[in-house]
Amino acid sequence: MPLAPFDWIDDEARRRADAGLVRTLRPRPAEPELLDLASNDYLGLTRHPEVTAAAAEAAHRWGAGATGSRLVTGSTALHAGLERELAAFCGFEAALVLSSGYAANLAALTALTGRGSLIVSDAGNHASIVDGCRLSRAETAVVPHADPEAVAKALHAHDGRALAVTDSVFSVDGDAAPLRGLADVCRARGAALLVDDAHGLGVLGEGGRGALAAAGLAGGEGIVATATLSKSLGSQGGAVLGPARVIDHLVNTARTFIFDTGLAPAAAGAALASLRLLRREPERAGRARTVATALYERLTAAGLTAVRPDAAVVSVRAPSADAAVRWAADCRTAGIAVGCFRPPSVPDGISRLRLTARADLTQAQIANAVETVLRTAPAA
Ligand SMILES: Cc1ncc(COP(=O)(O)O)c(C=O)c1O
Repeated sequence: MPLAPFDWIDDEARRRADAGLVRTLRPRPAEPELLDLASNDYLGLTRHPEVTAAAAEAAHRWGAGATGSRLVTGSTALHAGLERELAAFCGFEAALVLSSGYAANLAALTALTGRGSLIVSDAGNHASIVDGCRLSRAETAVVPHADPEAVAKALHAHDGRALAVTDSVFSVDGDAAPLRGLADVCRARGAALLVDDAHGLGVLGEGGRGALAAAGLAGGEGIVATATLSKSLGSQGGAVLGPARVIDHLVNTARTFIFDTGLAPAAAGAALASLRLLRREPERAGRARTVATALYERLTAAGLTAVRPDAAVVSVRAPSADAAVRWAADCRTAGIAVGCFRPPSVPDGISRLRLTARADLTQAQIANAVETVLRTAPAA
């Protein structure tokens, strides 16, 4: 009797269930019922009236969709304005916006490397970077986490075009990459440095200008950044920022730009409104960092194990994947939404609760979140 084509899926599902790794979609009501420490809305902008109004206005003016690749159906003044203001804000010569941060990483990695070149990638890098490395056809050396010496060694062993890539703030533990050290070793070897600032934009640097501005590296000759518009900027979409010739090269060669429908006007309008709000209210960035530190200090003082946050992500260790899932569920029951990271989303197999510090959390909300996480914590 031949097997049905998808019988293997049931076997995989059983194995996932046995390992406590089943993922399910939960309904999300329009009005938040829980205190949100799970989203990446670090600055609390996604429901800001100016931001939602800008999204609606952009949709009315330019249409609900971009209608095609910007190379085919044209590029709006809205997209050009967002790219100009984003580049200027972060300290780069030029920017290109794409339909997601994921697409931005694929674009930068595939367009700036290729067969015969070397990518040196941090072991803790985001899945979109891992996939960009795979798609690029470049040789990829995965090096130990946050280790410029290891990057230098890998670069030294290669003759020819090379690029090192790192998250600026790692999404699992919330720790920052040693950007200055990485830039030094790249400069010494004539390699490019690509930094995914998904978790740094809006949180790090003066007024949220990002990790590269904070490190004094923004706009450097060999430096390229990617970013997402879906976290601090409360919208959707991604961007690549760098020298104008790099951005021109991407327009001509990056397949996730050329063969993908342009960023939706509503998303571009919302991101631009958030960016302008952040310029007007730069204190939001520092506030997100202060909230993260407060969460970390109170949770670790009570005996939990966490990594000191360098930005707005606070990652608390759980004894097992099962325990992490139960812990997150107990927090939800108590009215607090928290993230739960477990294999395969963690590079080291260690499951975590992931709390995101929002700039708009009140002292009472912070106290409530801390009390709930501690009260529901599994026995060590
Ligand atoms: C470090 C990092 N890079 C890239 C992305 C992808 O961004 P987007 O959600 O806009 O596709 C994410 C978001 O999940 C991320 O955390």
